[in-house]
Amino acid sequence: MSTIPSLAALEAQVKERPLPRHVGIIMDGNGRWAEERGLPRLEGHREGSNSVREVTRAARRVGVEALTLYAFSSQNWSRPMEEVAGLMDLLREYLEKERKEILDNAIRLNAVGELDRLPRMVRTPLERLRDESSANRAMVLTLALSYGGQEEIVAAASRLVAAARSGTLPDRPLTPEAFAAQLWTAPLPPVDLVVRTSGEHRVSNFLLWQSAYAEFIFTDTLWPEFRAHHFLACLAEYQHRERRFGLTSAQLPK
Ligand code: IPE
Ligand code: IPE
Ligand code: MG
Repeated sequence: MSTIPSLAALEAQVKERPLPRHVGIIMDGNGRWAEERGLPRLEGHREGSNSVREVTRAARRVGVEALTLYAFSSQNWSRPMEEVAGLMDLLREYLEKERKEILDNAIRLNAVGELDRLPRMVRTPLERLRDESSANRAMVLTLALSYGGQEEIVAAASRLVAAARSGTLPDRPLTPEAFAAQLWTAPLPPVDLVVRTSGEHRVSNFLLWQSAYAEFIFTDTLWPEFRAHHFLACLAEYQHRERRFGLTSAQLPK
């Protein structure tokens, strides 16, 4: 008899305790997964889209409010042209193939990043699905696409500077909340949990502002191998952490 708990048992277990409202995932290790198998890197990205589907389903089933997936960074534009082109093809394919499931499951698809840098063939299905799913409320799935946290913060600061110059900025001190309202992620809840796969222990420009008080989980599993039970195990680990937000343990509500 297997000692590995079933998916249903794991799901039931994590549903018993408070869940992170917003989970961010740095989906890393696709290239290494492929290279280990003597396959082209793109095959790793392709297999990674199956992990995206599985993890999205699991998040939706247990009731995570917001899931943000780091799919392509501002810096990833500097990869070899063939890899960038292959990733753009896969993105378009993903948006077309997953459309029905996203709509059937009342998921709202959202995107953050320098979206105007994306080719038309990605932007068109992205904008279409974003519009079609805009009234959905079960979960918001945000793709961080052509995204950089520093780029996002600079864009927010630039908007504030422009507003100040044109005299439309309210004459009161800027607060972290007012600044956050200018970020691309603005209406989303703060990030409670960031997961990074593939054994790298860095943030790589993901949700820099938003993850100020996030819990971090780094796992050696490569993204194409990271499936629903790995995700549920991360949620369970999160549920055992004590989040103090600068307070002492004794100050926290029991
Ligand atoms: C993550 O996998 C996907 C993207 C960055 C687009 P990588 O392509 O970075 O895979 P590794 O890190 O080279 O294994
Ligand atoms: C971060 O992974 C970006 C995505 C997962 C989309 P990278 O593979 O690009 O990050 P570095 O280069 O290892 O920091
Ligand atoms: Mg990588």
